[in-house]
Amino acid sequence: MSQPNVPHSSSKHITLAFTGASGAPYGLRLLECLLAADYTVYLLISSAARVVMATEHGLKLPSGPQAAQQTLLAHLNSQRDQLIDSDKLVVCGKEDWFSPVASGSAAPKQMVVCPCSAGSVASIAHGMSDNLIERAADVVMKERGQLLLVVRETPFSTLHLENMHKLSQMGVTIMPAAPGFYHQPKTIEDLIDFMVARILDHLGIKQGLVPRWGYDQRDNH
Ligand SMILES: Cc1cc2nc3c(=O)[nH]c(=O)nc-3n(C[C@H](O)[C@H](O)[C@H](O)COP(=O)(O)O)c2cc1C
Repeated sequence: MSQPNVPHSSSKHITLAFTGASGAPYGLRLLECLLAADYTVYLLISSAARVVMATEHGLKLPSGPQAAQQTLLAHLNSQRDQLIDSDKLVVCGKEDWFSPVASGSAAPKQMVVCPCSAGSVASIAHGMSDNLIERAADVVMKERGQLLLVVRETPFSTLHLENMHKLSQMGVTIMPAAPGFYHQPKTIEDLIDFMVARILDHLGIKQGLVPRWGYDQRDNH
């Protein structure tokens, strides 16, 4: 009997979505850390996320998945000594319904939407599944996996809060993009790393981006 061919059954894999909230640098840094941790990353990028990425980071991502993958790899590799294995980054199209992330039978059990717009919060909270980001989130929820939403908006309307409350009750982790200052950040990168470190902590991925509360900070007092 032939061996069942379950894609990535034993490897580390995760779904990451960039949506059109402010905070594109959080998403990029998280992607870099996940790839450095040897994860295969299924990356989903909304149209608005591409606008935000160009506005905030000056990085123009093509709309085609393969071209976007090449652009991201070139960008990340230009900032690293060690080249990223290109097979580890799988960019999926908006309506790529045959992507593993679209089905509970193959989807990674962990997904992060970073940054997450209020619009995507609403769509996910109401199970719209109208594009691959919404469908992938719906799959992770129905499979009782781990979904983290790094939401960015200010102030929050009652509607935003109701949607987040609903998702939180379903076990979704709402992580507002709200970095702390107790690690005494000196640069914007320090603030970005604060958020990314908290996300990696929640995913159970070892990180050394910022000092850990109560371990490395006592000497300052
Ligand atoms: C530069 C820029 C910054 C934005 N910042 C936010 C934001 O912080 N939070 C938010 O909810 N929407 C923000 N938006 C609006 C969203 O991009 C817009 O609602 C979009 O429809 C979200 O779609 P998506 O969730 O499919 O990416 C921003 C748009 C742009 C162009």
